[in-house]
Amino acid sequence: MKEQINTRVLPVSAESVALAARLIREGEVVAFPTETVYGLGANALDAAAVAKIFQAKGRPQDNPLIVHIFTPEQLMLYGRDIDERCLKLAGAFWPGPLTMVVRRAETVPGVVCCGLDTVGIRCPQDAGARALLETAGLPIAAPSANISGRPSPTTARHVLADLNGKIPLILDGGACRVGVESTVISMAGPVPVLLRPGIISRGQIEAVIGEISVSPAVTRQVSEDMPVQSPGMKYRHYAPRAAMTVVNGELAAAAEYINRFADAKTGILCFAGEAECFSVGQVIELGPQDDAHALSHNLFAALRSFDEMDVRMIFARLCRNDGEFSGVYNRLCKAAGFNVIRV
Ligand code: TXA
Ligand code: MG
Repeated sequence: MKEQINTRVLPVSAESVALAARLIREGEVVAFPTETVYGLGANALDAAAVAKIFQAKGRPQDNPLIVHIFTPEQLMLYGRDIDERCLKLAGAFWPGPLTMVVRRAETVPGVVCCGLDTVGIRCPQDAGARALLETAGLPIAAPSANISGRPSPTTARHVLADLNGKIPLILDGGACRVGVESTVISMAGPVPVLLRPGIISRGQIEAVIGEISVSPAVTRQVSEDMPVQSPGMKYRHYAPRAAMTVVNGELAAAAEYINRFADAKTGILCFAGEAECFSVGQVIELGPQDDAHALSHNLFAALRSFDEMDVRMIFARLCRNDGEFSGVYNRLCKAAGFNVIRV
């Protein structure tokens, strides 16, 4: 067992960012806010520092990290064979919640990408993330700052709950604006492939670079021994401790189904104004059914709340799967291990 270290939580300020940047330059790991979820960062060019990320998270050694850059032009430094479509995407969506997987440049150590010859690169928008990248003057490799498999953290408190005693510093930038992780698109092959949906939608991307395809792992469980384009997709993810069932159907039918099985130790995730339809259980209203931003913003915090309430099982209403909704739709299904019931 590694000894516990004291984890400080400091609001984003010139001083705390300077401290975080110094820690990063010295080869330490630091948690920091982004517009999507909190990241657990280390110097992307330092293999030993990057190894600490895997250790702190308990992350499988075959799940590659995203390299965060300060300016879109740095894509050229860490990726190879960058074509016109990549530049168009960077121009349209960076800084912002889009990750591009491209061929990896020699400058990026293999450990960042788990030996793959591709690398995920993202230029984040959040002011805290940008201040840290600028001050550190380095690319920062960062996965979400949760223990592997747990819901991604969208507040500093979530990070502390998972990583207290394991990392020296958490920069607190408040609740993340978006709330689900970045849209991931592979630009490494002849046809762009959507690997992970997020708030930047397929339609928005296709408006910039034309038709793309969608990885099958976005819509169904892939088995552990199957080779997939994005290794992260095969693991159970975003999962609360309780077994979760997603209920796909109209409100009346869903409520009838859920009320049949629920008891006081059941968590129920529904949309705004629906709580009264459930006769028993711990009910959380995620937000208006037609507001993808609200649903995304609140999802992971809600899943973590169910853990704190110590519920034994969770039922969740399913949202739409078009446009900006497909990120939260995908995370709901993944949190339930694709256990989706149609009523
Ligand atoms: O919004 C985000 O992307 C957040 C913040 C911190 O930037 N980061 C994040 O990282 O969600 P992580 O490690 O939790 O998820 C990265 C995803 C994984 O599914 C991983 O498999 C995929 O991106 N990925 C990273 N590099 C890849 C590569 N070279 N090829 C394919 N997939 C890759
Ligand atoms: Mg993650």
